[in-house]
Amino acid sequence: MTVIYAGTFDPITNGHLDIIQRASILFPKIIVAVAENTTKRPLFDHQQRIKLTQESCKDIANVEVIGFNGLLADLAKSYGSKTLIRGIRGSDDIDYEIQLAQLNNRLLEELDTVFLPSSVEWRYLSSTMVREIYFHQGDVAQFVPLAVNNVLTQLGK
Ligand code: COA
Repeated sequence: MTVIYAGTFDPITNGHLDIIQRASILFPKIIVAVAENTTKRPLFDHQQRIKLTQESCKDIANVEVIGFNGLLADLAKSYGSKTLIRGIRGSDDIDYEIQLAQLNNRLLEELDTVFLPSSVEWRYLSSTMVREIYFHQGDVAQFVPLAVNNVLTQLGK
């Protein structure tokens, strides 16, 4: 059973990694799908986000990181996957996530979404927050995987 965890990952954070690690215990194979995402204006381009996500997940054996554009439902169909994973940080996420899950189910009838609650320590975290701290020369080391911190430290010099 292959499940898909998709996101923009601009950049991947410890909150995302926490969801991926926990999903990797529950499911035999996780595809982490990095969206090209033309609706957001990412700090990192698509190839950089894929590379950073790959480096951050390299120690988790049953995870494969890929890039994609287009509809998530089409990606799921092409992998024969019937399950999407999404993290829920708190009640603010719920309406939007249910809407997304229902929409994806309309686009591909057999496609369902499993929600994992984020761990308490990461419930306030988002990629936007990481970028904000970085732009103001703050230290993001505690919020992101080492590969991301290394690149941000280099960029900031
Ligand atoms: N830890 C840390 N941050 C988390 C998190 C967690 N556990 N869970 C969610 N987030 C953050 C994300 O980093 C993101 O933060 P940001 O806005 O600061 O970048 C935010 O919560 C969620 O953003 P959202 O835009 O909802 O999701 P996403 O960027 O992670 O991914 C896609 C969205 C890629 C899954 C969605 O746009 C998609 O499926 N695109 C393909 C086109 C498609 O099929 N659309 C749906 C049908 S129209």
